[in-house]
Amino acid sequence: MIAIVIGTRPEIIKMSPIVRACQSKDLGFFILHTGQHYSYSMDKVFFEELELPEPKHNLEVGSGPHGEQTGKIVAGVEKILLNENASVVLVQGDTNTVLGAALAASKLGIKIGHVEAGLRSFDRSMPEETNRILTDHISDYLFAPTQAAKKNLAIEGIRKGVYVTGNTIVDAVNQNLVFAERKSKILCKLDLAKKGYILATAHRQENVDNAKRLKGIVDGLKAVSHKMSMPVIFPAHPRTQNRLKEFGVDASGISVIDPIGYLEFLYLEANAALILTDSGGIQEEACILGVRCVTLRENTERPETIQVGSNALAGTEPKRILAKSNKMLSSKGKWENPFGDGHAARRIVQRISQSR
Ligand code: UD1
Ligand code: UDP
Repeated sequence: MIAIVIGTRPEIIKMSPIVRACQSKDLGFFILHTGQHYSYSMDKVFFEELELPEPKHNLEVGSGPHGEQTGKIVAGVEKILLNENASVVLVQGDTNTVLGAALAASKLGIKIGHVEAGLRSFDRSMPEETNRILTDHISDYLFAPTQAAKKNLAIEGIRKGVYVTGNTIVDAVNQNLVFAERKSKILCKLDLAKKGYILATAHRQENVDNAKRLKGIVDGLKAVSHKMSMPVIFPAHPRTQNRLKEFGVDASGISVIDPIGYLEFLYLEANAALILTDSGGIQEEACILGVRCVTLRENTERPETIQVGSNALAGTEPKRILAKSNKMLSSKGKWENPFGDGHAARRIVQRISQSR
């Protein structure tokens, strides 16, 4: 039995191809949701759109300080695993859910498969960097999306159990873009023209919990909107909505909206003139969809996007955001998607089923 652990928006999306692969191979699995994300627009909407089975367990850990949240996940996952017959626990990415579930499995001697292993920002101030490093070091199967990720693991002495599979986000984009194109009415709803708007998101703790950086991002978006004469659509994570209010940031001139479902978001990404974001998954999706991206951070654990020319780092200073956006908008040429052929989930599931 495979325990597929998820807790947040990107984990649901990136695990969905793995769920499909298990279903098509008729492999026994169950979904364990930690409940780290719980608002409809951060959680249930994705189960509905991606037609995922209901989680067998939901720990409902909710929000809280890192230690408390991670601690609840460790204890909750342990309790479930003690009563289930899981031979492997699959986790995806770098959230507190990932570290908590991996720790619980490790202590029980249950094998751990880390999907998206080997990513490094080399910035230990990010909570995600701690989660990635620790999870990689206790995992049995390390599903590295690219050769660069494999190399990061090798540098840390991790060579056993590493498989380069591609990133399941390519599978998810391939599986859902056609539905998005068929079903999405978002451009009409928001009165947008194809390639006539800028799409923005920001939710990283180090950005939005810092009033100066959050204001820098918003001012940068306003400057880009003004210079390009294009509207900015900003589906804002609940953390960001809370901080915009708390810090009294003036976001007038930018369309700040609630988070939206995956199909609508994918369609918005595919048709944007430019994407500005601090999200990891969105940097990848922009690259896969052939849309230029400006990353509102000083570093990225997705260096492949910079190397192929789909992405540029801008930080959170308004002038730099504008300069990098100008540069990306005027750059020409296409690139190859470096994240794989869309069969990552099949490879991952095959590898696990061989060794059970
Ligand atoms: C988490 C992950 C981050 C990932 C992101 C995906 C960690 C350390 N961080 O960050 O790596 O990129 O998920 O989106 O695991 N909230 C709601 N409803 C929800 C979820 C959150 O209102 O469904 C609000 C709460 O006020 C909460 C805040 O958002 O305090 C932050 O949520 P949390 O899960 O702690 O971190 P994220 O910023 O979502
Ligand atoms: N996403 C979405 N609706 C939104 C914003 C993002 O469906 O309003 C999707 C996006 O397509 C991507 C994932 O959420 O697949 C990225 O999640 P997020 O930015 O929260 O986390 P990260 O990837 O940075 O961990």
